[in-house]
Amino acid sequence: MIPDPLNQSIEWGMTYVTFAPSKRVRPLLVLKAHEIFSKPDDDCYLLASAIELIHTYSLVHDDLPCMDNDSVRRGLPTLHVLKNEAYAVLVGDALLTRVMGILARYSKSHHLNRILQTVYKKAGDQGMIYGQYLDMEGENRNLELDAINEINENKTSRLLELSLLLGGINAGASDPVLNQLEDLGKIFGLLFQIKDDILDIEGDASVIGKPVGSDESNSKSSIPLIIGMDQAKKLLNEYKIEAQDLIRQLPSNRDFFNHFVDFLISREK
Ligand code: IPE
Ligand code: IPE
Ligand code: MG
Ligand code: MG
Ligand code: MG
Repeated sequence: MIPDPLNQSIEWGMTYVTFAPSKRVRPLLVLKAHEIFSKPDDDCYLLASAIELIHTYSLVHDDLPCMDNDSVRRGLPTLHVLKNEAYAVLVGDALLTRVMGILARYSKSHHLNRILQTVYKKAGDQGMIYGQYLDMEGENRNLELDAINEINENKTSRLLELSLLLGGINAGASDPVLNQLEDLGKIFGLLFQIKDDILDIEGDASVIGKPVGSDESNSKSSIPLIIGMDQAKKLLNEYKIEAQDLIRQLPSNRDFFNHFVDFLISREK
């Protein structure tokens, strides 16, 4: 049962959206990237929670009436529906700000500068936020495939790249391996977003925990909407082959990453 949201604090809203059922894909990738080199340590768990909060804030803002205007997220009413828009904006802001509190507890001072730079670059105005901006600018336009790929690379790949990079940086990976992880994160994001767009058309709202048909009702140009469902599914398999090529070059943990690619393609939520 959902308690009366009218009397709740900002922290209540942060907990409500963060602990609603979700896949935790980004924190998992932080841990699994670290595991290529060694067993994840406490710092790795801090980084994993930080990226999940960045992702969660992006969802709260993505659902706002001024963006995708969606009323269900992670199987629950969105915060602006439950209470009001100002509350949802502030809960999103608070989730992002909490990340600073988490990163302040990071113990390896020799990695901290690089971690902060990477978080800024991938999540900020040159990364995920830029993708969200392009996505909104693209509404009511007939975008070409290249333009949609640019949106997807920014709004979705950047946080998956960030996940793998954070695990790698924390584990002390070399620059060439970090570059491989970054390339892999980009493909994961493209796969992830095409599948998300497919589920937006043929998914089951009660399984995906968010509305179906949101892209079409917002006049977005998604890949399956512009090239058709069959071609979009073919594209998933082309990206799968690219991902497998990159995974083959990883020093270890290849089985996990291959299974993860299968999950990205077959997932129903
Ligand atoms: C949804 O992300 C937003 C996209 C980038 C498509 P997820 O599908 O990972 O959402 P949760 O975290 O499981 O709710
Ligand atoms: C959102 O893409 C990506 C981010 C929040 C950065 P979508 O708008 O397709 O995500 P859903 O379908 O609402 O989860
Ligand atoms: Mg969106
Ligand atoms: Mg959306
Ligand atoms: Mg979507």
